Amino acid sequence: MNAPKVSVLLQSNWAEAGLVTDVRRGLGSQPRTLPPKWLYDEAGSRLFDEITRLPEYYPTEAERTILRDAAADIAATSRATTVVELGSGTSDKTRLLLDAFADVGRLDRFVPVDVSEEFLRQAADLLAARYPDTSVEAVVGDFTLHLGHLTRYQHKLVVFLGGTIGNLYVEERGAFLGALADSMDAGDELLLGTDLVKDADRLITAYDDPGGVTEAFVKNSLRVLNRELDADFDLDAYSYVPFWDRRMQRMDLRLRAEMPQHVSIPGADLELDLASGEEIRVEISTKFTEDRLRAELQAVGLEITRTWTDPTDSFAVTLARKST
Ligand code: SAH
Ligand code: TRP
Repeated sequence: MNAPKVSVLLQSNWAEAGLVTDVRRGLGSQPRTLPPKWLYDEAGSRLFDEITRLPEYYPTEAERTILRDAAADIAATSRATTVVELGSGTSDKTRLLLDAFADVGRLDRFVPVDVSEEFLRQAADLLAARYPDTSVEAVVGDFTLHLGHLTRYQHKLVVFLGGTIGNLYVEERGAFLGALADSMDAGDELLLGTDLVKDADRLITAYDDPGGVTEAFVKNSLRVLNRELDADFDLDAYSYVPFWDRRMQRMDLRLRAEMPQHVSIPGADLELDLASGEEIRVEISTKFTEDRLRAELQAVGLEITRTWTDPTDSFAVTLARKST
């Protein structure tokens, strides 16, 4: 049996310690924000998985279509023997790529990295069974903190799908790309999935399904605070407000207090007063143009070698190589 290895880089008090800092900094100042990694506790990971199956949420299927077309080419031209996946979740779409690598018989190792431990362990078990000749070495880690771990793998392809890079703020994205490039050797590759700038209506629909799955996913962040920090958010007092920020070219996903709220967050030693109509930004999802992507990758020494888009030009998958 090909059992997966699992390394846990997150400290046992990671959620506690990191969450307290993030909550103090993010919720205690204006505009009120929460960083997105706290959306993915077990319930959140399950809700996200449901989002990927919503007809309104086009990115998953668009990216799958691209990978189905491109996987054989990527495997044939890549020199990689290790595939690393950041924010891997279920690694569902990634199997198209792993299948293609397995077909050419060159995949020694697959390293999925995610903060959501239970989900990651389940995915790693399935993958190890599916790829008996590949060593599955899962990492429970934070891709904004632990990229240094990747330097041990040579000849690697780093895969980062789902448009997750768009959930980072622009300065975080710069720091992330810099750290990622630092963890790569010359010739290593990045395969990056990004959602593209498009019509506002289509974007808003993708983040506001009529069944309310997305709303439940975003509101789950308050549930995480209630559970982890003993907070007393009344989930029913907030409505979900997704909008397109044209200037910043990003979806801005917020919760709005529909009446004045006093919230105690004992675990972070914080008392909040929210006025009626006051909003908390839970997540952003930045959309890209090919030019912007090229410039940001180039700035850290990653040269685009190929770009694929789906037939509707909704989503892009970009292959880049570290130059020096
Ligand atoms: N790659 C999958 C999942 C995308 S959802 C897809 O394309 O469908 C984003 C994933 O990133 C979730 O599994 C979440 O747990 C993980 N994640 C979010 N922030 C993270 C962080 N800072 N470090 C590691 N994983 C993170
Ligand atoms: N990476 C996904 C995206 O930006 C995450 C996501 C999907 C998401 N739907 C969401 C985040 C709804 C918050 C709310 O598209």
